[in-house]
Amino acid sequence: MAEEKVLEELGTVESSEAAYAVHWKEEDYYHPSPEFIGQANMTDPGIFERFSLENFPDCFREYAELLDWDQYWHTTLDTSDAPCWKWFVGGRLNACYNCVDRHLARYKNKTAIHFVPEPEDEPIQHITYQELYRRVNEVAAVLRDFCGLKTGDRVTLYLPMTPELPITMLACARLGVIHSVVFAGFSGQACGDRIWDSESRVLITIDGYYRNGKLLDHKANADVAVETASNQNVNVEKVLVWKRYKDRYVSQAPMVEGRDYFMNDVLKNYARATVEPVSMPAEGILFLMYTSGSTGKPKGAQHSIGGYLSYVAAMSKYVQDIHPEDVYWCMADIGWITGHSFIVYGPLAVAASSVIYEGVPTYPDAGRLWRIAEELDVNIFHTAPTTIRMLRKAGPDEPLKYNYKFKHMTTVGEPIEPEVWKWYYHVVGKGKAVIVDTWWQTETGGFLCSTVPALKPMKPGSAGPGVPGIHPVIYDDEGNEIPPGAGKAGNICIRNPWPGLMQTIWKDRDRFVSTYFGKYNKDPNSKDWRDWPYMAGDAAVMAADGYVRILGRVDDVINVAGHRLGTKEIESAALTVEEIAEAAVIAAVDELRGRIPHLYVSLKPGYEPSKEIEDKVSNAVATILGKIARPGRVFIVPDMPKTRSGKIMRRILAAISNRGDVGDVTTLANPDVVEAIRTQVQG
Ligand code: WT7
Repeated sequence: MAEEKVLEELGTVESSEAAYAVHWKEEDYYHPSPEFIGQANMTDPGIFERFSLENFPDCFREYAELLDWDQYWHTTLDTSDAPCWKWFVGGRLNACYNCVDRHLARYKNKTAIHFVPEPEDEPIQHITYQELYRRVNEVAAVLRDFCGLKTGDRVTLYLPMTPELPITMLACARLGVIHSVVFAGFSGQACGDRIWDSESRVLITIDGYYRNGKLLDHKANADVAVETASNQNVNVEKVLVWKRYKDRYVSQAPMVEGRDYFMNDVLKNYARATVEPVSMPAEGILFLMYTSGSTGKPKGAQHSIGGYLSYVAAMSKYVQDIHPEDVYWCMADIGWITGHSFIVYGPLAVAASSVIYEGVPTYPDAGRLWRIAEELDVNIFHTAPTTIRMLRKAGPDEPLKYNYKFKHMTTVGEPIEPEVWKWYYHVVGKGKAVIVDTWWQTETGGFLCSTVPALKPMKPGSAGPGVPGIHPVIYDDEGNEIPPGAGKAGNICIRNPWPGLMQTIWKDRDRFVSTYFGKYNKDPNSKDWRDWPYMAGDAAVMAADGYVRILGRVDDVINVAGHRLGTKEIESAALTVEEIAEAAVIAAVDELRGRIPHLYVSLKPGYEPSKEIEDKVSNAVATILGKIARPGRVFIVPDMPKTRSGKIMRRILAAISNRGDVGDVTTLANPDVVEAIRTQVQG
């Protein structure tokens, strides 16, 4: 698409990410097969009418009724503390009971979790609902009786993709203990900051796990995490260490006397223990999930028990079309929201058999996933565009060599190019599976825009309309609605609250209100939900049919390979290197990973640019934040392009990295530096 067209479409949106989002033309519809429709959970078009704004908020009872409640609620939506909405007030339930116990009567012998270790010679473990029940109870007994954890306490789980992670999460949920899972790929320091913010007294981790053929030492990272937290005056009293292999300890890190305990040993004292699920208020807290925002400090999205679980159960049932007899595989990591909602809570709430794969999709070769799919007879598959691009590159015809059959596939996390969508559809799905593109966020608990697969056609490159109960709208910067079909981008907002939305940011209500509602709320004292549209922070275009195409973030967040990183976090990490004076990170378009960070730095006087300094900066980012944040390129520039008031113009750096138009630079304080940087970067 021509440059002028891109700029016109973006309207007033200014951001390094959205301005270079991949653009594509409107596509044709694809329709689900009669075979899919014939078996689908949701085939009643009346659902959209039932969930219209006229029926808000009572329509959401329909989702809540998918769960077992100890006590029904008296108020569906309480707006008295707007915009911290309270759902199903007066209701009581337990999330673990809903994901495990209640399925025993019919499904105790059915597999709840298929665990696929990365080494192909290790056997797949099939954990039935009965076994899950037993293991969750024993771990709950350890947490309660050995650690002294009680309802409302926080515990940090720094665990990779092994069954111990969902088992520990469910054990917390059973007790009403709030879990905060930190992605295992994050550095120990990043984990330590999250322990500190959540004030967790207990850390649960593992000695090691496999990634890409290597057995990684994870306990060593956990020790760094505990040290980082204690430097900020949060003392972790107990570290429980799961073992990857029951009979050996695979880490080099010593166990600290009086602090570190092997979970596998402690559990021996709790064999066959049972713990009553604690009946929790619907508005109790299920978990915290830290995510990046515009400041250097990650924010703890705080999710409720009743609202969140109702919402993800409904999404799993109606959008993902999971039936108890399906084998469902979401390739995300449980350490991100996608894994929480769509490996653990949503699928288990609807009695799915959920696959957990430890390793890298292309290890040891591009056929690995399809062998697993064939062996387990997976029929619902869920992954991100980054993985799809990677799989296509590594083995474009590989799926056709294997005899699996998907009925349904999901994509999530970044915009998917129509060309990549079509490969997913024709090759991975063999032209037989429906695809749902699901747009949502850590903060939103579950899907916002997607297609209900038997009711709405697919449109490659477009996430789809709001799911039932979600009413999206696009606003320009002044708060005027941009009508569907106008062909102009703006800020996508949701008109109404919904039960999956986070309750607040942990310990920071002001940040919650200003980040998500600050721009478009007109009366901060209003208790009417209509005055509080939720601003997602993405630029988007709505077509005449109501389908939404997401362009990318409008704030200081970049989305690298479907992982969300704060530019401020990366820049602060770069600034820890003594030679660095200033740092600015931008999102550069990357063929495989969607976007990668390019880091521009300038040096303090007296230092000369060198490869050593570049490496030092790159390593600092990887150590402080984790390998996923490592910049694709580091450019040491003579100076940053700045406005007269001293603001670094990241948009110009983004234009240079992406070989776009830098626009008018004459008003900068130092216009000459732009040409110098362009020559340096583009040659
Ligand atoms: C950001 C949220 C919740 C899923 C995992 C990421 C981008 C998410 C899509 C999609 C285009 C998408 C947005 C959003 N995003 N899904 N289907 N199409 N963009 O969660 O880390 O909270 O990131 O990911 O920019 O704001 P997250």
